[in-house]
Amino acid sequence: MEKDLDQIYRQGLKELDVVENADDLQDVSVRYLGRKGILTQFLRNISKLPVEQRPGAGKKANEIKNLLEERLRQATEKIEPRDEAKDTAIDVSLPGRAVACGALHPITQTNQQICDIFSRIGFDIAEGPEVESDYYNFEALNFPKDHPARDMQDTFFITDDIVLRTHTSPNQIRTMEKTSPPVRIIVPGKVYRCDSDLTHTPMFHQVEGLLVDEDISFGDLKGILTTFIHQLFDEQTSLRFRPSFFPFTEPSAEVDILCVICRGKGCRVCSHTGWLEILGSGMVHPALYENVGYDPDRFTGFAFGMGVDRIAMLKYGIDDIRKFFENDMRFLRQF
Ligand code: FA5
Ligand code: MG
Repeated sequence: MEKDLDQIYRQGLKELDVVENADDLQDVSVRYLGRKGILTQFLRNISKLPVEQRPGAGKKANEIKNLLEERLRQATEKIEPRDEAKDTAIDVSLPGRAVACGALHPITQTNQQICDIFSRIGFDIAEGPEVESDYYNFEALNFPKDHPARDMQDTFFITDDIVLRTHTSPNQIRTMEKTSPPVRIIVPGKVYRCDSDLTHTPMFHQVEGLLVDEDISFGDLKGILTTFIHQLFDEQTSLRFRPSFFPFTEPSAEVDILCVICRGKGCRVCSHTGWLEILGSGMVHPALYENVGYDPDRFTGFAFGMGVDRIAMLKYGIDDIRKFFENDMRFLRQF
């Protein structure tokens, strides 16, 4: 019995002598000391020995077990530092891993530039809901029910009285209801119309502007918008104010910029007019003041609403507005 134990011990040491790595070591450990290991089995079988042999066998087996454990520990210490060095070895000649980095969408960039310019000249930035009531989107803006001007904007209806806002102008009313003059705000946001071609998408972005105070004239409107366009593009940019109609402004004007694709010669993008419309504007209609409780004899003001995507098209010379929403990385990486 004692011979058996010596034999196990010697065999164990022999195997430990030739281990090369942590895996070999683990194998030896399991083979001798694991749940079904040789030594473990031996210890378990001691109860089957004749009573007088049990104490001696138990003592000897435990000694061998401790010795083997000690040898295993030493062998582990010898092997592990070497393995660790192997794991953490750094090959400094390998090329580094590039970190994929996102960027702001050109529409977002344009939107931020617009907001920055107006912030610098004293406008506050406000927000409003994209799902809007008929009242704010039309009625309070002086579009009576069945007024033909409602057809100017192909509306997405949610119910008879709830729409996806077709423009950011509802925020003129929402703002004036909450604050008294002087008012000076811009409202950026998404708007929706059933519309799609080279220069129209069903979802696009507008920035609304509203300035109401005493003694505000059409000259202020022209001055602010011209300054804005010259800051956003450059001082040389050609623009024109073209008389127009909106139920909520009187008089009204739309602003066009010389088409950047053809430089005014006429092309597909500008429908051969040489100009591209970027915004609508006008003096706030007195009917709106009545709707929000402002004194129309004391206050005057102007409002404007610009197409951010249309401006981005012009800034970057894009010939189809729909490209902004296709999310083609080859297109977006250029900005
Ligand atoms: C309006 O939406 C008015 N609310 C603007 C306004 C505000 C007038 C305040 C007076 C006072 P209009 O429908 O023209 O106006 O749209 C304004 C701008 O949005 C257009 O000049 C154009 O640049 C842009 N736009 C209009 N429809 C689309 C579309 N489907 N896709 C992309 N841009 C569009
Ligand atoms: Mg228009």
